[in-house]
Amino acid sequence: MTEIARSRIFADAASRIRAVGPNVVALTGAGISVESGIPAFRGSQGLWDRFDPMEYATIEAFSANPEKVWGMFSGLLPLLLAAAPNPAHLGLSGLEGAGMLRSVVTQNVDGLHQAAGSRNVIEYHGSFRELVCLSCWKRYPMAVWSPGDAPPRCECREILKPDIVLFGEPIPWGAQATAEADAKSCGVLLVAGTSAQVFPACELPAIARLHGAVVIEINTEETPLTRTTTDLFLKGKAGEVMTKLVEAVR
Ligand code: APR
Repeated sequence: MTEIARSRIFADAASRIRAVGPNVVALTGAGISVESGIPAFRGSQGLWDRFDPMEYATIEAFSANPEKVWGMFSGLLPLLLAAAPNPAHLGLSGLEGAGMLRSVVTQNVDGLHQAAGSRNVIEYHGSFRELVCLSCWKRYPMAVWSPGDAPPRCECREILKPDIVLFGEPIPWGAQATAEADAKSCGVLLVAGTSAQVFPACELPAIARLHGAVVIEINTEETPLTRTTTDLFLKGKAGEVMTKLVEAVR
């Protein structure tokens, strides 16, 4: 694509956002946090290349063998604890601060949108901030566990689970309802860093488009959305693209 064509797409995307701001909603996935040092799940170097999600990321696997699943958590949690927001998170926070974005629906559990200053964040797959006991439902701050520790246990001796949605668990009902209402009512859905392969989050772009929204997609590569649902595809790393888009909006 020529530089002129690329600039035109950015200008078009910026004008769509300006035309409806703040009625813009962002849907983000793991790709937006890759530049913060957190691996994505799919694609090259993806987490699921190292851990079979059916063995490590289902609620059945956790219930059957929590120590085994903590073998994955113990490697991933330190990256989440050490991560800082990157320009993509900061760009979305900047759009919200400028009255050009209403909410962020994130599939990520890393809390980086909030750390970047975003105030209206819907955590569709929960967050790693807390641990929960599946036996007595007591909750604990993640701070009760430190990298290198054994899996944390509840007072009732059960091994605790990070408060993230594993495969086979329901989406928190409030998050799902709010995300769907936002998708149905937004004028622009800005989709960044998701492979759009996991249900029901992957349905949100089609819902938004069905209700009249313009879908703008940011990704390093095409996804199942790109040729079916996306109106404007901004190819590239989320940090660079978001920075350029926010500048074009201003
Ligand atoms: N900038 C933009 N996009 C990127 C970048 C980057 N720097 N790096 C990777 N990507 C893209 C990839 O091309 C891919 O399309 O981000 C996407 C990451 O896809 P996944 O790893 O599948 O992450 P996600 O879509 O968030 O997964 C959804 O699946 O396993 C479950 O619960 C998990 O929330 C997760 C859900």
